[in-house]
Amino acid sequence: VRVAVVFGGRSAEHAISCVSAGSVMAALDPERYEVVPVGIARDGRWVLPEPGQQLAIDGGRLPEVTGGTAVSLVGDPAGRGLAVLEPTAAIGPALTEVDVVFPVLHGAYGEDGTVQGLLETSGLPYVGSGVFASAASMDKEFTKKLLAASGLPQGDHVVLRDAGGALCADPDVLTAADRERLGLPVFVKPSRAGSSIGITKVTDWVQFPEAVATAAAVDPKVVVEAAVPGREIECGVLAGRDGGPPEASLPAEIRLRPGTDWYDFSAKYLEDAVEFDVPADLTAGQTRMVQEASCRAYLALDCEGLARVDFFLGTGPDGAERLVVNEVNTMPGFTPISMFPRMWAASGVGYPELVDRLVASALA
Ligand code: DAL
Ligand code: MG
Repeated sequence: VRVAVVFGGRSAEHAISCVSAGSVMAALDPERYEVVPVGIARDGRWVLPEPGQQLAIDGGRLPEVTGGTAVSLVGDPAGRGLAVLEPTAAIGPALTEVDVVFPVLHGAYGEDGTVQGLLETSGLPYVGSGVFASAASMDKEFTKKLLAASGLPQGDHVVLRDAGGALCADPDVLTAADRERLGLPVFVKPSRAGSSIGITKVTDWVQFPEAVATAAAVDPKVVVEAAVPGREIECGVLAGRDGGPPEASLPAEIRLRPGTDWYDFSAKYLEDAVEFDVPADLTAGQTRMVQEASCRAYLALDCEGLARVDFFLGTGPDGAERLVVNEVNTMPGFTPISMFPRMWAASGVGYPELVDRLVASALA
């Protein structure tokens, strides 16, 4: 089976996608798969990367797709799959046909339905969620709406639309009532982004206009979320075998080391700032509750193939245990430290079997 592993992309998570792709390619069994690496540069050019393309974080230096042979992606005229070809070459020896695409892309133009639309339009099978689930899960506003409609409780939040210059400068963009209800701290987030890019934890309203500007630089739609106290729990979901119901992994927990304020980009990838408990130290009942909520979130958003559902597990105002979905990632990180493959490994699905299942579900 020939698999095009597509990585990089136009989003702010470009580098993380490169690191994820490095791990995915290493996990695809060479006896069964021929991997065709396809990079997308930050400016949107599709390239066959040079051999030796850096795909790891190297002493704090983040990888980036730059050079390589420019290619375009077209549907195979015979309808058998994908063709990747040099734009200048006529169809001929330069043509590389692949059977399936694994878009290991995070964030905008990759995890948000846009690449999925391109692949659908070309009739090419691909790993992961389709256009709608990708778009809905990428957008925090609509993720919350759809999850709430499915009975999965959401934290309090306010959506700021078109958070351009005028709005950022307006200290009254949130009403006094909003401020009082949300309380402090709030997390100010771009509605469509990942890896905590563009997010500020605001502990004093004085910081708010700058936080909105930071988020709006990533996405003109900004979400202001009340802090949800609780343990940070994540759970992996995979499509069921043979069209069966989705399956959840054992959950994991992220614990911040002393001195780390919250799980931001640097804490995620650059510093030794967090500890991961894989699996999380939960009671059997809590584990079941997280797994059930994960599968419900996956179904509520119409996800396909895989997802990682992130939660806060805490205590509600009534004193009862409360589980709040923070977000759903339709192409979760696959970096060496990423939770999704580690949670599945802890659940008895090793990395090679995991990528096998993902490719198989794309071809099913
Ligand atoms: N958005 C990052 C890659 C994650 O969710 O793991
Ligand atoms: Mg995310």
